[in-house]
This record gives sequence, C-alpha cells and structure tokens, in this order.
Amino acid sequence: MSVQRKQSGWAGSAMKETIARALSEARDRTLMLVEPLSDEDLLAQHDPLMSPILWDIGHIAHFEELWLTRNLEGKIEFSEMPGIYNPFENPRAVRGALPLKPRAQMLSELARIREAVLERLETVEFDESNPLLRSGYVYNMVLQHEYQHNETILQTLQLKKGEPYRAPRKIEFNDAPPPTPGVVSFDGGRVVIGTDDVSVAYDNERPQHFVEVAPFRIDRFPVTNGEFLEFMNDRGYERAEFWSEAGLQWLRESHTSSPKHWDRRDGVWVQRIFDRTRPLDHSRPVSHVCFYEAEAFARWAGKRLPTEFEWEHAASFASGGSNLDQLAFDTAPVGTFADGTSAESCVAMIGDVWEWTSSDFLGYPGFLAFPYPEYSQLFFGSEYKVLRGGSWATRPGAIRKTFRNWDYPIRRQIFAGFRCAKDA
Ligand code: AVJ
Ligand code: FE
Repeated sequence: MSVQRKQSGWAGSAMKETIARALSEARDRTLMLVEPLSDEDLLAQHDPLMSPILWDIGHIAHFEELWLTRNLEGKIEFSEMPGIYNPFENPRAVRGALPLKPRAQMLSELARIREAVLERLETVEFDESNPLLRSGYVYNMVLQHEYQHNETILQTLQLKKGEPYRAPRKIEFNDAPPPTPGVVSFDGGRVVIGTDDVSVAYDNERPQHFVEVAPFRIDRFPVTNGEFLEFMNDRGYERAEFWSEAGLQWLRESHTSSPKHWDRRDGVWVQRIFDRTRPLDHSRPVSHVCFYEAEAFARWAGKRLPTEFEWEHAASFASGGSNLDQLAFDTAPVGTFADGTSAESCVAMIGDVWEWTSSDFLGYPGFLAFPYPEYSQLFFGSEYKVLRGGSWATRPGAIRKTFRNWDYPIRRQIFAGFRCAKDA
C-alpha cells in the first residue's frame, strides 16, 4: 500500500484510517499463514538458514513496537530492539536455541503491541518536516517489514521437514504449453534508475539517477522448468565451461545436480511446492535456483544475466498482470499473463519468481542511510547479488520496479529464478 501525501486535520484523519486498515490487513495475513501450524512447527528451527517461525512473529512485534511507539517518543537506534528478537544479536542459525515465548504468549504480545501502536496513531502528528513521519513513511516501512517476513515465513515452510504445510490456496493456474520464447530489444542510453519517493521506497532505491546502459536484449519470459531441464539433459551441471570459478566451487561442495525441491521418481522429474508434488511442469518459471546455477544456464544458452539496471529499464516497459500475493502458493505458467501484451514487452517481471541479476548490492551514488543503516547499508558490497521483481509469495505492497532484494549467490531458499539477457 502507499499512503498519500496528506498531513493534518481531516486529511490527517483519513490517512490514519488508511494506515490502521493496512496494519490490520497485514496482520490478518500473517495470522492466516501461521494458523494451520502446530505449536511444535512454530517453535522448530526447520533449517539452519531460517528462524523458527515464532521468532519471526516476535521480531515483527518488536520491530513494530520499536518504530511505532518507542521511536515516536524520541529517537531510538535499531540496536535498542530487545535482545532475542534483535537479528544482529542472534544470527538465524542459533535462533532455535533461544528461549522464545510460547505461541499463546507470543500472539498476545503481538496483539498488545498493536493496540499500543493504534492508540499512539490517534495522536501522532504527520509533521512533513520529519522524514520519518512525512507521508506516513515509518508506517509504510513497518507494513513492508511485516510483508517481507510473510515471505520469509513461507520460505521456511517450503523447507519444513515432516508433514508438509497445508497451503491455503485461493486460485489455481492451469498448465499451459510454454509460449514461443521471445526477446525484447532496448536501445539503452542514459536510463532512469531508482526513485526519489520518500513515502514508501527504501533508502537503497534512492536517489533517482541516470545509468549509461549499452543496447541490450532481454528475454520476454523468465527461464522455464522445461528450458532448465534441457540444460540439465545437456549435462549442464557437469560441464565446467559454463560455470564461474566460484560457481564451480559451490557445485563441488554442494554436489548439486538439479534445482532445489526437484526429485526424480520412477524416472520422472517431480517438483514439490508445500503439500503438492507433481510431475515437473515445463511451462512454469524455474525456481529455487541459486545465482551460480542461473549464471551457468545463461552461459550454456549463449546469453548472460541482466544487470539490475537493464532489468529495471526493461520493467519500465513491461506489460500484463502479475502473480503476487500468495494466491496460488505457486508459480504460474509463463504465458499466463501474456494475453494482450505486445511482443515488444517483457512479461511477468513483477511476481512469480524473484529474478537474479548480475549486479552486486551497492549503494547508488549519493546514497544516504535512512532510517537505519542495518536495513541495507550494512549489506552493501560484492558478497551479495541483487534480485528483482518479487515472487508469487510477495505482498503487492512490498514490490515495485525499483525494489532491490539481495542475498548470497549460493542461496536457494528464495522463490527465485531468472531471465537471460544479451548484448544487442
Ligand atoms: C530485503 C529480504 C534481504 O530478509 O534480510 C526483513 C528484508 N530486513 N527485516 C531480509 C528484511 C529486515 C531483508 N531482505
Ligand atoms: Fe526483519
């Protein structure tokens, strides 16, 4: 959601209502996602990469308390977030050993903090000279935080061992033959990147600036399971020529030979997504691949990954709908949103799968950390690669064409695939 630029008086009260409604909608979704889980499943650390889900819930609560109650009484530092729910004091791998509050207590703490937040909202002044409150920024930040942790929770649930998560699916996409692959050409030049928005955008999306981009071509659709299988059948995982040095090292250590959550049963490839296992659908975007696998596929195909700037430029001209918001708990066949779009525009850039880019996660020229360096600045550097576009698990309020996600190039827990590009 995005809160309009309004300030005091009647406009201020309309804005407060919008905020309260959005907060409650975000909370309904969080509770809906965790409702079917047993107490044990909420408490367990299902994977060393992920927190116990109860930790996410406590962290959502305390992040909100920090920014929407304590912070409004005087400036606080992110490091003041209380001990066990502070991500920097307790790395994910140890969160299973923390004395987390049991489910009922945690949920009542979540509700108690929300009540205090709503009470404080009644008297808050949207002072346009205060960058935290201008256009409701801090509320939008806390909303996006909850949306982001919804996707984190779903990553955990996909990794969950034992009884699979019963995905509360709302819609189904039909299998469909993949559309003819297409390529879209761009002239490049000085392209506009980022935004100066101060109501919802994160610090790492600002400032808006020009980037010089050479003419390039980019695939109309993300790479599909079927295309990825061709790479595998051509011994893609065994042929060193397609892999970078770092990629080869990862391959040797991880012994990977297919995307995560693929399995071979009676000679047939199947893929599992939560509680559903089915023969590989060749028409859906490949998902749960790491950056190195994406890079190797691209080299095999005689292409490369797009830079995040090429991606964002192409996204400015994209068309069609998006598979977002956890409606299908699944990707959609790549042609699903192609109806009525022109052959000259990319499809499904927003939603379906996050897309790996070749770019390192760096600050834009003139970057200013706001409101806390622990959101993005702390992660700037060449260790992380940028992902763009969001997935089917992303809430609409947490994605836009300027949004930048990042992770280590070896990570496969993300609902991530890629599309390929080429010099023109
Ligand atoms: C933007 C997805 C990399 O999960 O580490 C959540 C989002 N930041 N709480 C992350 C985030 C703080 C962040 N990513
Ligand atoms: Fe967080």
